[in-house]
Amino acid sequence: MSDSRTAYVNGTYMPLSEARISPMDRGFLFGDSVYEVIPAYDGRFFRLEEHLQRLRRSLERIDLDPRISGSELRSIVENVKDRNGGGDIAVYIQVSRGAPTVRDLRFSQGQPTVFATSISPKGVSKEVREQGVSAATAADIRWGGCDIKSTALLANVMAMQEVGGDAVEAILIRDGHLTEGGSSNVFVVLDGRVMTAPRDNRILAGITRDVVLEILTELNIDARQEEVPEDTLRAADEIWITSSTREVWPVTALNGKPVGSGRPGPIWRLVDERYETIKRAQ
Ligand code: PDD
Repeated sequence: MSDSRTAYVNGTYMPLSEARISPMDRGFLFGDSVYEVIPAYDGRFFRLEEHLQRLRRSLERIDLDPRISGSELRSIVENVKDRNGGGDIAVYIQVSRGAPTVRDLRFSQGQPTVFATSISPKGVSKEVREQGVSAATAADIRWGGCDIKSTALLANVMAMQEVGGDAVEAILIRDGHLTEGGSSNVFVVLDGRVMTAPRDNRILAGITRDVVLEILTELNIDARQEEVPEDTLRAADEIWITSSTREVWPVTALNGKPVGSGRPGPIWRLVDERYETIKRAQ
């Protein structure tokens, strides 16, 4: 199947198949770049400002001046969304520290590379809603800057490879505690109480995680951002993974064993129903 997506690279819109970035780009050489994935429903972005703010934070954390204003970034992602047909879609945008002539870890401020295109969000399919998904645990060997949405994802890639084919997500464990998924945040339900790892440098502060925490507050469900021991994860009645492309998925098998009843749980159902309403009510 041919890929007819439109991309944006440094001021120009073009077919993705024609987009070119230098092999000297620091994003390619060092993973010296940050990114966002922003979902849209019915052609309208969901939590756009939150995603753009997080992009700003990531850029500041790595001392990268994008040399582009917030409103320019906003119009790039809007254009990429619209030129790729709008509807239910997600926009991927990446900003790297550009392509100097010399390969040197040290940097001076140069012209960054801005790249954007669209991706198809997975959403919650009928099958996921009825059966849930499988996940498996893996050691979290990442660095101390997991709050930065960096494209340096080698440890995440290795974790996904380690968990193998059946698992849709690697659930990461550091020092005996849950951190997050390879590309998602993780919620655990035990005895009616919902838990997710605290927001610090060990996890990405997911926008979907915030939406789910808001929904839980609205529903008067006890939700805590606290350390979740691996034993609690293994004893969980429900486990969910959350991200902008997957929304909220119930994990019904962990390391080949059923989670709770082995079916998507009752609290997940309440959250999923509410999420469906909120995401289209922009
Ligand atoms: N990933 N944690 C990690 C490590 C992630 O990569 C992601 C998202 C999340 C969830 O964040 P949000 O709810 O803001 O999407 C948490 C994106 C979707 C990706 O890499 O494709």
